Amino acid sequence: MKAVSYEGTRKMSVSDHPKPKLKSPTDALLRVTTSGICGSDLHMYDGRTPLEKGTVVGHEIMGVIEQVGDAVSSIKKGDRVVLPFNIACGFCYNCHRGNTHSCLTMNPEGTSAAYGYAGMGPYAGGQAEFVLVPYADFNCLKLPGKPGDEWEDDFLLLADVFPTGYHATELACVSPGKTVAIFGAGPVGLLAAYSSLLKGASEVYVVDNVAERLEKAKELGAIPVNFSDGDPVEQIFKLRKQNKGIQASHRPGEEKLEGMDCAIDAVGYQARDDKHPTKEKATQVLENVIRVVNPAGAVCLIGVYIAPDPGGENADAKKGIFSFPLADFFDKALTIGTGQAPVKKYNEYLRDLIVNGRAKPSTIVSHHIAVDDAPAAYDKFDKRIEGYTKVLIRFGERAKAA
Ligand SMILES: NC(=O)c1ccc[n+]([C@@H]2O[C@H](COP(=O)([O-])OP(=O)(O)OC[C@H]3O[C@@H](n4cnc5c(N)ncnc54)[C@H](O)[C@@H]3O)[C@@H](O)[C@H]2O)c1
Ligand SMILES: [Zn+2]
Ligand SMILES: [Zn+2]
Repeated sequence: MKAVSYEGTRKMSVSDHPKPKLKSPTDALLRVTTSGICGSDLHMYDGRTPLEKGTVVGHEIMGVIEQVGDAVSSIKKGDRVVLPFNIACGFCYNCHRGNTHSCLTMNPEGTSAAYGYAGMGPYAGGQAEFVLVPYADFNCLKLPGKPGDEWEDDFLLLADVFPTGYHATELACVSPGKTVAIFGAGPVGLLAAYSSLLKGASEVYVVDNVAERLEKAKELGAIPVNFSDGDPVEQIFKLRKQNKGIQASHRPGEEKLEGMDCAIDAVGYQARDDKHPTKEKATQVLENVIRVVNPAGAVCLIGVYIAPDPGGENADAKKGIFSFPLADFFDKALTIGTGQAPVKKYNEYLRDLIVNGRAKPSTIVSHHIAVDDAPAAYDKFDKRIEGYTKVLIRFGERAKAA
């Protein structure tokens, strides 16, 4: 079968790999119809998260069940399903409590497992014609419709970035009427903005400096802020001050609340320096979220901070150790949430929003490609050029039309 594999820094290749076979009676074999390229894949692509050469990548996967093991009871050959990027067992302490992002049994080297990802267990990825699904009853979300229908892209986004964006709003305590600042207008940031608006946030700002991505944020109903135009936190403070309705309803002391109730870091450790955007500054967005949020507010780091990082700027950074203004954090009495999204907690509800016409996350999809074009798409997505924002690989029949 054809699959995309990692062959070294900024080198992906498309080649023949053996079609996976069922290993356990609880497995299923999935014929992939669409697979996404994720910002998380770029950490490995850039050589910043070490990955063994030859590994088949891809953790955003949907398709049609080809075969099920004898112990699989709730899905069958021909069912259309999407997989959470977290692989979970369903029976451990954490899975029982809905924390499938910290499954205790699927990764022999620690907690958390995923398809085709460094340090997340021995599972091949799904940027491939077929993928093996462990504990298929637990890990498959059943979908209505047929491959290639008008929901194909929306459903694919249920594998990761839609639930992840939504989870970010949960960790940042977004609820109706609240104000939200999101740093990063990649797929995760855009869908965190979309989820905030779905929840009824009153003001949503999205910071980036990629024009097409900021344009998309505006299209979704958020207020774009370009960090190349000056300190993004000051820009948000200024924009808030221009809101006459808010200013006119202040009670004593409220003038101190220049910022946001909620802030989301959808960038992570490869953040660029606001003042020198060609350089990285790992703590840039971490510092900005702490500054932008009001006292007693909440912050979510959904962008990844990961170690080891061979490209870290000093010995501490290589180990994922950073200094940040903890005193400001404490003084402001902030709440913080971090980590991978437990996709399974949300994917079913978000699917039903899609099916009932209440959500259309696929507005953020910029490109559809055939698998042979994956290496070129990685290059453009990594450089954030030509509007490459969310790239989906189509397999089989659909590929010809991609
Ligand atoms: N926690 C999870 O479960 C989870 C899941 C998926 C992805 N992620 C992570 O989320 C992050 C974003 O991924 P993505 O798929 O959206 O794609 P992405 O990496 O393309 O998006 C990052 C965006 O941040 C922007 N950016 C860089 N420096 C910035 C700064 N200083 N201020 C504001 N914006 C800045 C970039 O221009 C880019 O548009 C990555 O770190 C990814 O690994 C986490
Ligand atoms: Zn992803
Ligand atoms: Zn588990």
